[in-house]
Amino acid sequence: MALTIQVLLLQVLTIVFFLVLLKSDAQLMVEVPPLMKCKFDKIYQLGDSLSDTGNFIRESFLGAFSPFAKLPYGQNFPQNKSTGRCSDGLLMIDFIAQGCGLPLLNPYKDQNANFTHGANFAVAGATALPTEIMVEKKISSNSLITNSSLSVQLDWMFSHFKSTCSSADCSEDLKRALFLVGEIGGNEINYGLLQGKPIEELRAMVPEIVQIIINAVKAVIGFGAVRIVIPGNFPIGCIPNLLTTFSTTNSTAYNEYHCLKDLNNLAIFYNDHLQKAIQDLKKDSPKIILIYGDYYNAYQWLLKDATNLGFGKNSLQKACCGIGGDYNYDKSRICGAPGVPICGKPGTFISWDGVHLTQAAYKWLTKWLIDDTLPKLNCQV
Ligand SMILES: *[C@@H]1O[C@H](CO)[C@@H](O)[C@H](O)[C@H]1NC(C)=O
Ligand SMILES: *[C@@H]1O[C@H](CO)[C@@H](O)[C@H](O)[C@H]1NC(C)=O
Ligand SMILES: *[C@@H]1O[C@H](CO)[C@@H](O)[C@H](O)[C@H]1NC(C)=O
Ligand SMILES: *[C@@H]1O[C@H](CO)[C@@H](O)[C@H](O)[C@H]1NC(C)=O
Repeated sequence: MALTIQVLLLQVLTIVFFLVLLKSDAQLMVEVPPLMKCKFDKIYQLGDSLSDTGNFIRESFLGAFSPFAKLPYGQNFPQNKSTGRCSDGLLMIDFIAQGCGLPLLNPYKDQNANFTHGANFAVAGATALPTEIMVEKKISSNSLITNSSLSVQLDWMFSHFKSTCSSADCSEDLKRALFLVGEIGGNEINYGLLQGKPIEELRAMVPEIVQIIINAVKAVIGFGAVRIVIPGNFPIGCIPNLLTTFSTTNSTAYNEYHCLKDLNNLAIFYNDHLQKAIQDLKKDSPKIILIYGDYYNAYQWLLKDATNLGFGKNSLQKACCGIGGDYNYDKSRICGAPGVPICGKPGTFISWDGVHLTQAAYKWLTKWLIDDTLPKLNCQV
């Protein structure tokens, strides 16, 4: 009986929805967050600066006094506030939370925060590989700004569930939860590149990084997760700081979007490994929904359709907040340093500070990712 009423209600709602659509003109688009139909009640995020909503600035002095803790970071965030997000405003995880109809995800390190609808464990600068291994590989000297690698974040998650789940087994509490494991693993590549490690050496690290990520996914499944998105890396050859460092007069080094082919190929190599590992894990865990988050192709789409989406033709590879060179990026005068200018229209830039993206870019990337991911999430209407 209850079911019949639900079905009826759904039909009525569908009709109302179509009437609304019919009545509205194209410019009066009704924004229905499509993720709502998944009815997620919690979101958990592991990762780095692409998704940190305030852990790094809380965990150490290094973080508290980092540029991310103050304006212009956050200048387009509601109430013009710096929150530790590495952007001018919202991140992809924020748009995902909004799409689910949930509040923005609080950082785990904010002890007074409300974690009813999930928690964010991501830390800017974090690596997938543990710090000891980074040190062993000699890619740590002065680049490591945090020790909160994936395994540390998993420990936090474990403690969090231990104190919040209604019983020792969390699966009942987590059956409507969305998990995002990553993006993580991009930083060891960035640090290595910026420290002058040859690409071959970084390629050789990929299987190890991917294994660490897969182990984290297994741990998350062990906690009771049933829906997990595992994002890959962006086409890193398009990011202003790397474009600046690896700038060359060899025109064949660049692709049609003026991105560095060798660096993009490294990201493709990494993403391919990650996707194969996810496929293998799916065979072992057929009941768990595991989805690769295709950041690479989302970014490619952004570049391809940039002008239609409101980005400036000449600002696709320039940092909005920055100074110097072809890409508005100088590592000795970064965004937030005295006298470094901020562009007038961040919404027309993809890159915010030469490393991280603008809210506008994150918004469009999220749209692409939700469109790509939603069918795979198997959410019943
Ligand atoms: C945000 O606040 C800063 C400092 O108080 C101010 O300079 C800036 O104009 C504000 N930005 C916006 C978008 O309101
Ligand atoms: C935490 O948030 C939930 C849901 O938004 C709310 O029902 C609850 O009252 C909040 N708890 C506290 C202590 O504010
Ligand atoms: C990371 O850990 C090492 C060894 O315990 C310590 O020396 C270093 O200061 C830590 N780094 C940060 C950024 O916390
Ligand atoms: C130019 O770049 C391409 C692609 O990275 C590379 O194969 C080629 O060897 C480079 N040529 C020179 C002269 O460095």
